[in-house]
Parts: sequence; structure tokens; C-alpha cells
Amino acid sequence: MCLRDERVLLGVSGGIAAYKAAELVRRLRDAGAQVRVVMTEGAKHFITPLTLQALSANPVRDSLWDASAEAAMGHIELARWATRVLIAPASADLLARLAHGHGDDLLSTLVLASTAPLAVAPAMNQQMWAHPATQANIALLRSRGVQVFGPGSGDQACGEVGPGRLLEAAELVAALAGTVRGHAVLAGVRVLITAGPTFEDIDPVRFIGNRSSGKMGFALAAAATAMGAEVTLVAGPVALATPAGVLRQDVRSAAQMLAAVMAALPGQHIYIGAAAVADYTPAQVADKKIKKTAADMAVALARTTDILATVAARSPRPFVVGFAAETHDLEHYARDKLQRKGLDLIAANQVGCAESGFEADCNTLQVFWADGACTLGPDSKVAVAQQLLSLIAQRRAQAGA
Ligand code: PMT
Repeated sequence: MCLRDERVLLGVSGGIAAYKAAELVRRLRDAGAQVRVVMTEGAKHFITPLTLQALSANPVRDSLWDASAEAAMGHIELARWATRVLIAPASADLLARLAHGHGDDLLSTLVLASTAPLAVAPAMNQQMWAHPATQANIALLRSRGVQVFGPGSGDQACGEVGPGRLLEAAELVAALAGTVRGHAVLAGVRVLITAGPTFEDIDPVRFIGNRSSGKMGFALAAAATAMGAEVTLVAGPVALATPAGVLRQDVRSAAQMLAAVMAALPGQHIYIGAAAVADYTPAQVADKKIKKTAADMAVALARTTDILATVAARSPRPFVVGFAAETHDLEHYARDKLQRKGLDLIAANQVGCAESGFEADCNTLQVFWADGACTLGPDSKVAVAQQLLSLIAQRRAQAGA
């Protein structure tokens, strides 16, 4: 992911999600962009201009009537300076004003005066997002070529649950990088990803599961979408919002995940098995709760079908990427899986420690293919996902797939 040579004009409008603009400025700069921030009056109720000025290393503008800046026609100069305009968060009111061409404050005037591509990241209460007026405004903006990033879905600051959350800073940076010419490296590519754990039922109240949160697989889905791919995500039981633009299918058990993957497989160009699929499942599922009458109890387990190996054995087959979760001898076990399961590439992560693997927000991946290897991270799972997808795109191109 790279925004080198990009000059991003970041518009921040009023809403509780405005606090996320601080992290966004940092991430944009980490990706190589120069950043200048323009705030609406409402935004300043949620975050101070000083914070964004310090993080962007540029003065923050907030008024059309700033005499010193306007002496040099500041808003026109700013509009010309930008190679990208990103508004995050974009409130319902701002979207309405943009849709109808208002120019009654600095930010809306800049949007009218700039020829740079415009992207908006809506954030608002889920009812406001669902309102026909907001949806009509979004449709109008989209019809003019405005990119709309998100919103995500989940718990909201107002206590409601639903679509309207601002995407995370790393997701926004990835989405913006994906729109920069030359970075949509997965445009037209269909990617099938598995994520999360599987739960194998013992009886109606008990199951065998594992600690996968789904974060790694969901980060891959978001990053692949941002790079232009058409993504299908088969998710085990996780509590994560669906990344914008991703087609998601929820499953519970390894058998259900196998069925969902096989149904979605035809036509896929890349398969990434990031799920922690159970290797064993109870041979029999009791239809009533098992009572604790005996002092000991044994559960007979049967092997599950290896989904990854099944996909890799298909002909024709997609470019197949596996994961390996290991507590020790990472390279040895990863290379063994690469060869034994017939994979194109494998990403191995150390598990059993707090800062990578299961549940963590960060990860380090050692990636292996037949004649090469590299290490990605340590970094956030979102950043590592972007790096892994760039590598996959590169390896796939070299393999002529
Ligand atoms: O979800 P998070 O909390 O973010 O954690 C991320 C992760 C640690 C789960 C992820 O990065 C990861 O390593 N996923 C693979 C975990 C795993 O099951 O590893 P494994 O070494 O047991 O399996 C190897 C590969 O075979 C994996 O691609 C797995 O999806 C696949 N497999 C395994 C068994 C099976 N029956 N079918 C499969 O497809």
C-alpha cells in the first residue's frame, strides 16, 4: 500500500467519529502522503485543530473567511494542491451539501473548486444512514464518480447497532491507495477467503472451538477489496463487521465451511485459507445434553476434510494460499504443509504469544513458496494483510496464473 507522491486534502466533518481523524492523518503520512486538513465548524466540537495540525505537520484550515490565507486565495490554492480529496468522517449533512453543490463553508467550497478525485467515508447513526434522503445523496455522489468508503457495520456510539461506523484508519488508507492508478492490482480478480474458527458440536450446549477471532481473515478481505478484487468471505463464528463491499457467508462447523467453499469456488482466481479449521470433530453429536453421571468422559473424534488440500487438488484450481499456525519449528512445518497440500504459497504465524497469531491486533508472517521466502511485519493485521496481498499478486503474476 503506497500513497507516495500523493497530496491528500483530508476533510473532517462533525460527528463523534471525528476523533479517528487523528489516527487517519498518521496512517496517511505513514503511507507516504502529504496531508493537509480542513475542518468544518462541527468537527471542531469533537477534535481540536491543534491535534490535526501537529500530526499533519501543516496548518489546519477551518474558515472561508480567514483573511491571511484568503489574501492569496487560499482555498483555490488548496484545491489545486490536492491530488486526492478524502472526507472522513462525512456526516449526513455534509453529504447532502456535497450532493447539492453547496459552497457555504471552506470544505464544501474546496470540493467544488478541486479537480482531484473525491472519496467520502460516511459515519452516522444507522437510521440516518438508512434514510432515503441520505441514500439518494449517496447515489447522486456515486453517479458523479465519488468513491464511497464504507460505512462499516457494528456497535455505534449512540448505543444502536447497524451500518454507519467510520471505517478504521488503516482500512481507509488501504481503500484510498486502492483507487490510486496502478495500485488496484487485483482489479477484476475474484478472491475467496476463509476466516475465523469453526465450532464442532458435541451436544446441543457444548462444542470444540479455538481462539481464532477472524481478524486476520477479515483484514485480508478488506485489503483485497481495496485493491480492486471481488471478495467472497466464508466466516466461522466471529463477532466482526463485514468489510465494505465484501460478500460474506457465515458458517459454524468445518463441514459447513467445506460446503460453502466448494459452492463458491468455481470462477475464483485466488483462494486464501486463513480460517483455523478444526482438524477433528466429534464422531457423534448427541442430540440431548450429555449428563455428568460418569467420573470420566471420552469424546471420540473423527478427522475433518482438509479444505485447503481439497481446493489445491482441484483442476482447474485458483492460486492457493494457506496459513500455518505454529508454536515452534515454524519454517519446517510451513514448508511441509506447502509441499504436502500442494500450495502456491504459505503464510506461517507464530501462535501462543500475545503479540501475534490468534486474537492479537498485530501479526508477523513468515511467507514461503517453492523457491523463496520473506517476512512481513511485525505490523497491524490490516497492514500485514495488505503486504501479503501485494506479494500474492506479484507471485501469481510470475506464475502466469
Ligand atoms: O483469526 P485471528 O485471531 O486473527 O488469528 C489468525 C490466525 C492465527 C487464525 C491465522 O493467521 C492462521 O494462522 N490461520 C490458520 C490456522 C490453522 O488452522 O493453521 P493449521 O496449521 O492448523 O492449518 C493449515 C492450513 O490448513 C490453514 O490454511 C487452514 O485454514 C487449513 N485447513 C486446516 C484444517 C482443515 N480441516 N482444513 C483446512 O483448510
